[in-house]
Amino acid sequence: MPRTHSIHGAWANRWIFILAATGSAVGLGNIWKFPYIAGENGGGAFVLVYLVCILLVGIPIMMSEVLIGRRGRQSPINSMRETAYEAGHHGRWAGVGWMGALAGFFIFSFYSVVAGWVLYYIAGMGVGQFVDLGSEQAGQIFNGLLADAETLLIWHTLFVVIVMMVIAGGVNKGLERATRVLMPLLFVLLFVLLAYSMNSGHFAEGWDFLFHFDPSELSWNAVLIALGHAFFTLSLGMGSIMAYGSYMGKGDSIGGTVLTIAALDTLVALVAGLAIFPIVFANQLDPGAGPGLMFITLPVAFSQMAGGQVFGFLFFLMVGFAAWTSAISLMEPGAAWLVETLGMSRVRASVLLGVVVWALGVLALSSFNITADLTLFGMTAFDFLDFITANVMLPLGGLLIALFAGWYLTREMTEDELSLRSALIYHAWRVVIRYVSPAAVAVIFALNLYQKLAG
Ligand code: TRP
Repeated sequence: MPRTHSIHGAWANRWIFILAATGSAVGLGNIWKFPYIAGENGGGAFVLVYLVCILLVGIPIMMSEVLIGRRGRQSPINSMRETAYEAGHHGRWAGVGWMGALAGFFIFSFYSVVAGWVLYYIAGMGVGQFVDLGSEQAGQIFNGLLADAETLLIWHTLFVVIVMMVIAGGVNKGLERATRVLMPLLFVLLFVLLAYSMNSGHFAEGWDFLFHFDPSELSWNAVLIALGHAFFTLSLGMGSIMAYGSYMGKGDSIGGTVLTIAALDTLVALVAGLAIFPIVFANQLDPGAGPGLMFITLPVAFSQMAGGQVFGFLFFLMVGFAAWTSAISLMEPGAAWLVETLGMSRVRASVLLGVVVWALGVLALSSFNITADLTLFGMTAFDFLDFITANVMLPLGGLLIALFAGWYLTREMTEDELSLRSALIYHAWRVVIRYVSPAAVAVIFALNLYQKLAG
């Protein structure tokens, strides 16, 4: 018999699930990462591939994660095992959940470092450190921050602590109240930024960069990065959405909910890109500047804008908030498992996980200064953690989840959980999840591997 409730609680209603899952999806991936990887990979063609991946891989897999979570009603590890049993298969499918929990730690460790940068900028904006900035000075401030291990450590630690606090209390309570107010505010502020960049005189250039399709710019590696980012930005492939799905009401529609979340997430990323690139071009900055892109361009814009100090402060505050609600979902699968299986209290589980991700994060932050020379496959710890998760573990996890939902769960189970309004939509989902999504991931993987080995 499928369970009706999770021991960890439940969302009050369908909207709260949408808010929480959007809170998980919308984060640094949208505002920090998307613009800079689009910039590094030449813009338009990359953006198009990313949008196709959201549609054909992201959305069907997100539906699968929600349905598995809601069917299993437990942490992702145990939900995978339970639903496998229910369908008459081996419990080793729990391994997908294990890999996901591990990916969650890895992502958290560098995510928290970047979130620490955001906290530093909130403080800087708050005390008026960023007035009258040229792009050169903005670059110096950012590079100065990266070189300063101690400052990085302080903000990274603070971020880990505020995430632990929510995990300790249970995600249903704290998250609901905060998200309801702050998510809409983030949208408003993004549109303020967009309005500014529309008036920057370089909007058309920014628009062109993001939406002008030039396939010659595209490499198979860029396609892999776009695919990986589709997973990253929708919080897929490691159990975040599965964990949140396990707190979802039985009667709520999965299809419509998932579409809403994916649409909001994509909107935020595109608006962030449209806000950032005109500013990049107006200030002769390099679109391929890398992870510092947002931290260098936006302070310049805020320092020139009327009321920019206030907007800047609020903007970074919202980004910090978005990072916070995302990071919570990175830790939740592990925490839920510790509580469920080892009978730990939520407080203990959050402290234990907090210490682990904090330590890994210290390694990631030191790769900008003390351990900059320490590389693995030519990557620093920070780059490696990003690469191994977004480009390997998440697509692999997603591939396995798609195969599991499409080929191993029984038709009755998926049809019943999804309860889509029309049989046609169900068929479409099933065809995509069985063939299209797995094939896309497998082909992109294979071509990259081939190029790496051949090249
Ligand atoms: N999606 C979030 C962002 O874009 C990050 C995130 C939260 C995530 N949970 C995840 C990424 C699970 C991958 C997997 O910022």
